[in-house]
This record gives sequence, C-alpha cells and structure tokens, in this order.
Amino acid sequence: MKKILVTGGIGYIGSHTVVELYKAGYEAIIVDNLSNSKKSVLKRIEQITQTEIKFYENDVRDVAALDKIFTENKIDAVIHFAGLKAVGESVEKPLEYYNNNIIGTLRLLEVMKNHNCKNIVFSSSATVYGNPHTVPIEEHFPLSVTNPYGRSKLIIEEMLQDIYKADASMNIAILRYFNPIGALENGLLGEDPNGIPNNLCPYITKVAVGKLSHLNVFGNDYPTIDGTGVRDYIHVVDLARGHSLALQKLFTESGLFIVNLGTGRGYSVLEVVHEFAKILDKEIPYKIVERRAGDIATCYADCKFAEKLLNFKTEKTLTEMCRDALNFQLKNPNGYEDD
Ligand code: NAD
Ligand code: UD1
Repeated sequence: MKKILVTGGIGYIGSHTVVELYKAGYEAIIVDNLSNSKKSVLKRIEQITQTEIKFYENDVRDVAALDKIFTENKIDAVIHFAGLKAVGESVEKPLEYYNNNIIGTLRLLEVMKNHNCKNIVFSSSATVYGNPHTVPIEEHFPLSVTNPYGRSKLIIEEMLQDIYKADASMNIAILRYFNPIGALENGLLGEDPNGIPNNLCPYITKVAVGKLSHLNVFGNDYPTIDGTGVRDYIHVVDLARGHSLALQKLFTESGLFIVNLGTGRGYSVLEVVHEFAKILDKEIPYKIVERRAGDIATCYADCKFAEKLLNFKTEKTLTEMCRDALNFQLKNPNGYEDD
C-alpha cells in the first residue's frame, strides 16, 4: 500500500481527500498544526474509513518534526494542502501568509529532497488567473495576482517549476481548484470556517438555518446573466477524487503538470441562492450591496485538459453540492465544536 503524506489533512479539502485516498487503496499519514481545523475531524475520518490513521500534530515549517515523519514512514508521495487561505486576511497580514505558505512549502520540499521523495501534489487556486480576458479559463492563460494569498500560490507554482527544471526525476502535479463547496454526503465531514464565513456557500447555509439574518450579495451590475458574480463551484468530493487521479498519474508517468479542477460550468450568486431556496422550499433573504473589492465578474474552468490527462470528470450537480452543504450544517449546527 503506497503511503501518502497529507499536509493539512484535517482541513476542509484535505479531510475529504484522505477519505478518497483510502477508497483508492492508499494509506494516508496526516500532518496538521490544527491552526484552522479541529482534532475531532480525525476521529470522523477514522470512523468513515474504519482505519486508525497516523496523525502528527506539527507545523510543516518544523524541519525536525517533518524529518521525523519521513524517517518513521516510507513516504511515497505528498499532497500538500497546508497553508493559509483567506484573501482578505492575507492583505492585512502578508508576512504571515508568505511565512506560512512559502516557507512551509520550502521546508517541506527540502525534507522531501533529503529523503528522496519525488512525488508531490500541490493545492493551487484559480486565483492565479487574476481577471481572465475570456472564459472558460485554460491552463496556459496569463497569470496575475492582486493579493498576498494569490501571490504565495503563484510563487510556489514557480518554485515547483524551478525544482522540476533542476531535477527532471521529480513528479509534480499543480492543481488549480475553482470554487470547492459541498460536503461528504453522510454529513460527517464538511466546511466549518471560524467566525463569520467569507465565502458564499458557508454563508448561505448559515442564513438558511437562521444563524445569520440575510446574505449580502456583492454587486448586481456585473456583465453576467443576472448581474451577480459567476463562479465554477465544484463538489469537494469530486475535487478530492481529482487528487487520487493526480497521484495515480504521478505514479505511472513522470513529469510536471498543471491542471484545472472545476466543472466547466459557471453559476451566478443568485442562481446558487435559488438552488438553496428550492431545496429548502423557503426563500433565502438577501440584500444587494456594493461590489466586494478584488472580485471579478466571471470565472469558470476549461476542463478539457483534466479530462484528457487524468480522465477527470465531475459527477455531482449544483443541487447535490447545495444539498450536502446544507445537510452538514443541519447535522452539525455548531460545526465540529460539539465533538
Ligand atoms: P483549510 O484551512 O480547511 O485546511 C488547511 C489545513 O492546513 C488546516 O487544517 C490547517 O490547520 C492546516 N495548516 C495551515 N498551515 C499549516 C502549517 N504551517 N503546518 C501544518 N498545517 C497547517 O483549507 P482548505 O479549504 O482545505 O484548503 C486546502 C488548500 O487548498 C489550501 O492550500 C488552500 O489555499 C487551497 N485552496 C483552497 C480553496 C478553497 O476554496 N477552499 C480554493 C483554492 C485553493
Ligand atoms: C474566493 C477568493 C479566491 C479563493 C476562493 C476559494 C476572493 C476575492 N477570492 O473566491 O481567491 O481561491 O475564495 O477560497 O476572496 N459573494 C456574495 N456574498 C458573500 C460571499 C460571496 O455575494 O457573502 C459572491 C462573491 O462576490 C462571488 C461569489 O459569491 O461572486 C463567490 O464568492 P466566494 O465564495 O467568496 O469565492 P470567490 O470570491 O470566487
């Protein structure tokens, strides 16, 4: 059984991916400093996979801790989720973002090199495309970033490309996620952000259950179907499956690849609101407010390369994404806190 080190494996996408890894016949070892997650998630992953999972509560910047993990386990590949991800916060705290995301990745790559571990899958983001000149977005489109979070992703992508140039025996998958939403169908795993959510879907689920009074829709004067922003929402379980396909590719064919993980279909804010309302059979209260600084009108992926390279095709619909997100909120009214 190949051993996969999952950094940030207690987090939202990481936890769903660990479940997929077991389904695909891999063993996962998790390292997470719990800066944005709760230890109880581990128990839930173990309950779902019916497996005891090796967990290291460490920071990826801690070289001695990482070295110990690689010494104790023969790691075949790393999936690197660990990092900070809030755009607004990154503008306030750029040093924290550069330190955590860039230094964290650098330390990880150094330890991998010392232990001759050649395979890595990296979590990048569609944010590296900035404001695209057209949609759907193909992987070769020009890149640009406007905030420290995005810049940290772009710098890491460039670091990985330099490392590959210097050592062509490295196998590197850079996955550019579009907008992950939803939750595991059984409601055991989901998205549990701290405080008031910044992102659309976790905000709406809180409005749906009456924890927040209404949704603020950031602008209705964009050149889109109804004036509100259009995004490519991807079910987190589909996204997680994309990671096991990427690993499979790295284990069978060497090289570096960069691939979009989205559905190829965009939905507006109001379309998402209406989808939730339909499932709940009640209105979601909302107010139209000013545009949010830094937002773009439309963003969705061209998925042809993901399909060709990885045979990756999403399976879940927007209805399933909203239903599963809602189910997680209803089954876990206080998130993971109650565990
Ligand atoms: P998350 O915050 O839920 O998970 C990240 C996990 O990493 C958390 O459990 C956190 O405790 C841990 N962590 C953070 N810094 C660490 C460090 N220095 N050492 C060890 N552990 C650390 O976020 P997520 O939504 O699961 O995102 C995972 C990755 O995917 C991130 O790199 C993020 O930037 C990227 N990404 C996320 C989205 C999204 O919308 N969720 C979109 C594009 C890219
Ligand atoms: C945001 C980040 C992006 C990151 C992604 C996933 C910004 C500018 N971009 O993307 O870098 O990769 O999250 O973490 O933060 N909306 C509302 N009301 C809300 C929340 C959102 O109307 O309360 C709208 C937004 O204007 C946007 C859409 O909903 O049109 C989706 O927003 P969000 O979920 O925050 O994702 P992105 O902005 O696409």
